[in-house]
Amino acid sequence: MLSRTRVSALLLVLLLCVTGLYFLEGNSRIVLDGFSQAANKTGHYIKGGTSIFGLSTVKDEPPNFPPYGTVVAAARGDEDLSWMKDAGFQKNWDVFPYNINNTVNPDTRLQIPMNKGHEAMVYLSYIINNYENLPWCIFFTHGHYESWHQEEPIPRLINTLNRKALAKEGYISLRCDWYPTCPAEIRPWDHDATVWGPGVKRKETENAIAGNWRQIFPGEGMPDTISSQCCAQFAVTRQAIRRRPLDDYERMREWLISSLLDDEVSGRVFEKLWAYIFTGKAVHCPPPQQCACEHFGRCEPQNWTQPPDGLPALPKWP
Ligand SMILES: *[C@@H]1O[C@H](CO)[C@@H](O)[C@H](O)[C@H]1NC(C)=O
Ligand SMILES: *[C@@H]1O[C@H](CO)[C@@H](O)[C@H](O)[C@H]1NC(C)=O
Ligand SMILES: *[C@@H]1O[C@H](CO)[C@@H](O)[C@H](O)[C@H]1NC(C)=O
Repeated sequence: MLSRTRVSALLLVLLLCVTGLYFLEGNSRIVLDGFSQAANKTGHYIKGGTSIFGLSTVKDEPPNFPPYGTVVAAARGDEDLSWMKDAGFQKNWDVFPYNINNTVNPDTRLQIPMNKGHEAMVYLSYIINNYENLPWCIFFTHGHYESWHQEEPIPRLINTLNRKALAKEGYISLRCDWYPTCPAEIRPWDHDATVWGPGVKRKETENAIAGNWRQIFPGEGMPDTISSQCCAQFAVTRQAIRRRPLDDYERMREWLISSLLDDEVSGRVFEKLWAYIFTGKAVHCPPPQQCACEHFGRCEPQNWTQPPDGLPALPKWP
């Protein structure tokens, strides 16, 4: 027979376990509720079926004097970043010339946990390291000066971007052309995407998004369609970044670090998701002509890449 003290001790242990569980549960609930309530208060975040973000009601105007923001480049070691190291450029912008091949950069600002997931590791690491002290806006770019997926050289895109438009929209892609990702590139439920380009690893990326959505965005419904102008170069305001708590970005990077997916795929998972991450809009495809005019002042009519017959036509603007 158990002695009385033994029974009491057992009961006490049981009680401690139950309270422990209760507190754990309670805490996680508090964290979640605390986030949405605080966000509700500032008007930063309105959670809908698929976590659509509300527009911020708090004004955060662009600075009138340099530095106007920060440029974060995720370059490979063999890429020429002289455009970014240019003194004239640095008069207006703070620069973070990351080299993905040099994870233990002597400049500690530019260290990353590992070279994995292409530019995504750099972008997420910059946000995580600087979350409490973000500049008004950040341009996230690759290392190249020119590329097939840019309509102009990168410093020109940066210097001509309309900051009033950025203040209003929070996120602006540096590419306006719909080719090859708009308006319905990723269809994680139905797998019947609108495909009209090379779409490197598109199918694998779509499957990876479908299979990992709950890990990356717990509590957010997976959208039917995910699409935005390609290729992971964009400007974003600190206000748009802070629509999500730091935890979200840490969770995303944790996923990237531990993912067993090929780099080519895990990096592309984020490439498809940046617009959603910052705007809450899973389909973010402004008409190319409107994008060029309103975001970059290129209002003369342009000959945009036309989708082949059978696909939705480019929207007219104006
Ligand atoms: C946030 O605000 C909406 C609309 O006013 C309300 O329906 C919702 O319950 C609020 N959520 C929280 C967690 O306070
Ligand atoms: C840099 O990293 C990329 C991505 O992992 C890799 O493809 C490339 O070969 C690396 N370059 C050098 C010079 O190590
Ligand atoms: C627009 O571009 C396409 C493809 O490059 C070309 O075939 C066509 O002639 C161009 N149209 C005009 C009006 O320039």
